[in-house]
This record gives sequence, C-alpha cells and structure tokens, in this order.
Amino acid sequence: MSRAHIKRLYGESRVAAVLGAQWGDEGKGKIVDTLTAEANLVIRYGGGANAGHTIFVNGRKVVTHIIPSGAIRPNTLNIIGPGVACGLDVLSKEVKEVADVSGSRVVIDRSTPIVHPIHRWFDVAREANGGGIGTTQRGIGPAYEDMFSRRGSVRAADLLNPDKIEAALTAGGYYAERRAAAESYLASNVKLPAFPSLTDVVADLMQYREFVRPRLADTREIVWEAVEKRQCILFEGAQGVMLDVFNGSSPHTTSSLCGAAGIRATYGNLPITSVIGVAKAYATRVGGGPFPTELKGPEGDLLRELGNEYGATTGRPRRCGWLDLVALRYAVRMGEITHLVVTKLDTLVEFATKQGLPTPLGVHYNFELRRIGRNETLTSRVQRDSVVEYDLHSLPSSVLDESSALHPSVSSYLKRIQDAAGVPIAAVGTGPERDQLIFL
Ligand code: IMP
Repeated sequence: MSRAHIKRLYGESRVAAVLGAQWGDEGKGKIVDTLTAEANLVIRYGGGANAGHTIFVNGRKVVTHIIPSGAIRPNTLNIIGPGVACGLDVLSKEVKEVADVSGSRVVIDRSTPIVHPIHRWFDVAREANGGGIGTTQRGIGPAYEDMFSRRGSVRAADLLNPDKIEAALTAGGYYAERRAAAESYLASNVKLPAFPSLTDVVADLMQYREFVRPRLADTREIVWEAVEKRQCILFEGAQGVMLDVFNGSSPHTTSSLCGAAGIRATYGNLPITSVIGVAKAYATRVGGGPFPTELKGPEGDLLRELGNEYGATTGRPRRCGWLDLVALRYAVRMGEITHLVVTKLDTLVEFATKQGLPTPLGVHYNFELRRIGRNETLTSRVQRDSVVEYDLHSLPSSVLDESSALHPSVSSYLKRIQDAAGVPIAAVGTGPERDQLIFL
C-alpha cells in the first residue's frame, strides 16, 4: 500500500483511530501496523493487558497485550493513556521485548490507574467462584471499579512515593474491606492463592518505580501539542464496541469504553477525522454473552480451525459465527466509526468452499413477533431470544479473480455490508501477510 493511501486514512486532521467493530479480535493489528508507518504518536486509550496482539520484532513473533503497536517503529512516541488500566508486570516486559529492541519510546500518563495484586486476586476469585463472566483474569474490571469508586486506585505518579501508595490503599478503609471480602471467598471451597498483605501490594508496585519514573508524562499536553503541530496521531483501540461497558450486552462486556468516546473521555474533543472500525468477514466472541449468529457444533469448529480462532491472551477457543449486520450497524453508530476495514475474507471464502453452501449474512432479528434491525439497542435479552434472518451469498473459491481484483461475488458481499453499516469500506484483508490488504 502506498503512503498516499495511508495519509488518506488519517484524513484532514491527521488524527485517526483504529478500533474493533465487533467483540474484539477483529484483526486490528494489520491495519494498525500499516498506519503506524506514518504515525508520530500511537496511543492506547482504554483496556489493559486483556487485549492480545501478535507482532513481529526482528522476524521474531511476539504476542503483546498492552504496549502500543507503534513501539516496533523507532521514530514513534507511544503513550499509555489515562484511560488504560495498566498492568506494569506486562508493560515492563513488553517494553523490554519490543521498544528497547526497536529504539522507540513509551510513556505513561501520570494519572493512569495501575492494576495491583488485589485487582488480579479478585478477578481470579470471582471467575473461580462460578459467578464470573469469562474475563481474561488480568484484573482489569476490579481496577476500573476502584477508579470509579475513588478508593484503592493507585495512579502511575504515585509510584514515586511508597507513602502515597499506602495511603491510596488504606484510605476509606479500602484494604480492610477488601481483605474481609476475600475471606468470604477463601472460606468457600474454591482453591485460591493467599490474599496479598498490604506490604506485599506496596512491594509489588515498588519494584516498578525505576521503570515508571523516566516514563511519566502529562500525555494530554503531549497529544494536544502534537495536534497543533499537525503531526500524525493514531489512537489504538482494545477489544471492540460490542464489548463496550456502556453499549455492549451487559454484564458480558469489558469494563472500559471501546469506541471513540473512550478517546474523548480522556483527551477531550480532538479533531479526529477518521475512526476506522475493523470487522472480520464473519464474527467471533470469547467468554460469555449473547451471540445471535453463533455457529455451534462442527460448523463452528471448522471455522475456528480455518481462522485459527484461539485467544491471544488466554488461548481460549473463540466462539465463531456469521457476520451480524444488525450488531455491526449498531457498533458503527455507538463507536462513531467513519470507515470499515473487513478482515479475513480469505478464511470465510475457504470455509464457504469447504461447506459448498451459500454464506449467510445476519440482516435482521425477529423478536417477540417484531422484525427489528434498525435503531434498536441490543440488550442481552434481544440478542438471546431473537431469531436471526439471513441474506444468502454465493462466494467464490478465491477472494481475488484472475486479474488479482476482488472477485465480483466478494464485492457484492462487501457492498451488502457497506450498505447496512452506512459507512464505506476502506480496505479488506485477503490473507495473513502484511501486504495482503487491499485499499478500496
Ligand atoms: P475482561 O476485559 O478481562 O474483564 O473480560 C471481560 C470480557 O471481555 C470477557 O468476555 C473477555 O473474554 C472479553 N475480552 C476482554 N479483552 C478481550 C480481547 O482483547 N478480545 C476479545 N475479548 C476480550
């Protein structure tokens, strides 16, 4: 792809975002990698080490979870924003493996909430106790809970001073209350690690003090200055709009804002011209929650094998199904998406060929004798109890025709997606390699 294509994707203001338009794992990595070639700043604005992303550093495959993807490029400044729930164990490891190798810089906002051992303990305990929703157990939900409850939340700048950490953990009776809650989990039959003492928690955080110290920054200032200088700025989303804490199917969501609102929540009203929503040509979901177009049984198993649909963070098999245009249109609206990138067309075509059947696209839900599909909030109940109506598409055995253009039947499948979503498709992924991305 040319620099002109990339610049066009950044749009007039040179501020762009790439985010998931489904339930995460849409293959954002490839388009993010492409855009980082022109980026001055790359910012992770939400989520934490619950995301998973496979990148190549000096030809070596590395699975990253939190470091911004610009870190593989020496000339980028990479930011962990104030909306991230930051696990320093994972971040420090990834900085060593990626940024220190490439020579790029990573900074952390002074106010970024830090995931601490109590957060991880409760994430594990709740899942083990049978009351969980299938989280990644990285402590993300409990870290955001404490940030919003304004108790027990340690911020990146607090690491410079152990007294501040201790104060944050004890104010309002936080630690004593958490320990009492932990005792009731420990009293049940579930096997759990010992609950960390206050000293353990402070010591755990203090081991990252020298890592954090030179990397602390006021990143709001940095971002707005870069806007004034008309630099290229890329916001990198985590998870997907259908897992957004406000707009996803509660309670089966992550605990952060996955759409463009997550950027504005912490950086204000930036002039973002391009919000690129990434969607697979089919759909996947990890963890619990409604998935109306899910393919269960051998069909779902085959799609999982062909697409290698296993979680990059937890290794869990992903649930697989057809592309759901009702959910996609909703994600476009809620995520403020201006363009789509559709990935893994090659996997869908291979699956269709093996099946020898037309490929369904979910276009409406029938719920309580009503046909819905527009302007409807996708509640868990609607998603669970509705019957999906499908359009059928005959796909060819190869995405490209003899002249290496998109096969006309693939183009009509894409046109149906674009019409339903209401925004243009800017590019499509036709294979696993970096250059297997066609700009439309
Ligand atoms: P948490 O974000 O670890 O609290 O998990 C909450 C839900 O979000 C679970 O269903 C997870 O499987 C899902 N989730 C979190 N991160 C990702 C991701 O990067 N890709 C896909 N699903 C995710």
